[in-house]
Amino acid sequence: MDRNLAVNLGRVTEAAALASGKHLGRGDKNGADQAAVDAMRRMFDTVDIDGIVVIGEGEMDEAPMLYIGEHIGTKEEGGAKVDIAVDPLDGTTSIANGLPNAISVVAVTPRGCMLHAPDMYMEKIACGPKAAGMIDIKASPEENIIRVAKALGKDVTDITVAVLDRERHVDLVNAIRNAGARIQMISDGDVMSALATCFDHTGVDLMMGIGGAPEGVLAAAALKCMRGDFQCILKPEDDEQIARCQLMGASLDRVYRLDDLVQGDDILFAATGVSNGELLKGVQYLGNNKAQTETLILRSATGTVRFMEATHYLDRKPEYAK
Ligand code: FBP
Repeated sequence: MDRNLAVNLGRVTEAAALASGKHLGRGDKNGADQAAVDAMRRMFDTVDIDGIVVIGEGEMDEAPMLYIGEHIGTKEEGGAKVDIAVDPLDGTTSIANGLPNAISVVAVTPRGCMLHAPDMYMEKIACGPKAAGMIDIKASPEENIIRVAKALGKDVTDITVAVLDRERHVDLVNAIRNAGARIQMISDGDVMSALATCFDHTGVDLMMGIGGAPEGVLAAAALKCMRGDFQCILKPEDDEQIARCQLMGASLDRVYRLDDLVQGDDILFAATGVSNGELLKGVQYLGNNKAQTETLILRSATGTVRFMEATHYLDRKPEYAK
């Protein structure tokens, strides 16, 4: 894929972040999400691709825009045929409640290279490049912590594991505590906490727990760009979800690894901070119709990690102000 597409994806997540950031702390989850979806969809119309949404806002009958199977991009002759995973706002509750770590995020691969993950939970484990190859989702949390500590040259007591703060994680949290490691609880947004394992300054060494499967594919795309590691197992909750897994040919204890989730090494990933996080600043509205965003753009083919800070003059970009 053309490397310049990566920067255009950054424009797409910037647009969604600028629109949804306005909703910080206003208690309106749906309004924030809708603003992100509308802005992202509009910006995709300007990107020269023939894209199909494989991870999106839901099935066609549930979501009017960015639904699974929707064709997006200019779709012009010659536009790259790609698969697209989007989460216009990962952390809708965070934005509604004025909490950190919400992002707008997309990942793109050539057509047919991304798992069409169903909308259900999955168990996940992620680590950065220095511990890649050491994790095993079938092993206990203690075992994984010991292996990662060894790979990083750290004491187990200095390992920090990011975990979504959920009732379902009580046993996991106890196991991490018994192993002697540290825990960073996150209220929402496990794409960013998986990615945080790849950046020393975040202090996060591992991410474990159950979160959304669509977010898992987005995290896998980012971790593959970063040469980190990620494994997951689908966790259907009812017969309908079990049937969906069977339709995908997924046995219920199948371990999905990076190459199962995102194939090949031509992957683009972009995320813009909506509220402040440890990797990305949230949108800052500066007055006089000016706003600032911070975006992370990754390209697996070259491994480039690009942080893009942008100042937007919104009165000169009416499409952003809608
Ligand atoms: P949304 O913004 O779509 O609500 O997702 C936020 C999120 O925290 C994801 O990052 C995570 O994978 C998932 O929700 C966890 O689901 P739940 O909130 O049901 O535990």
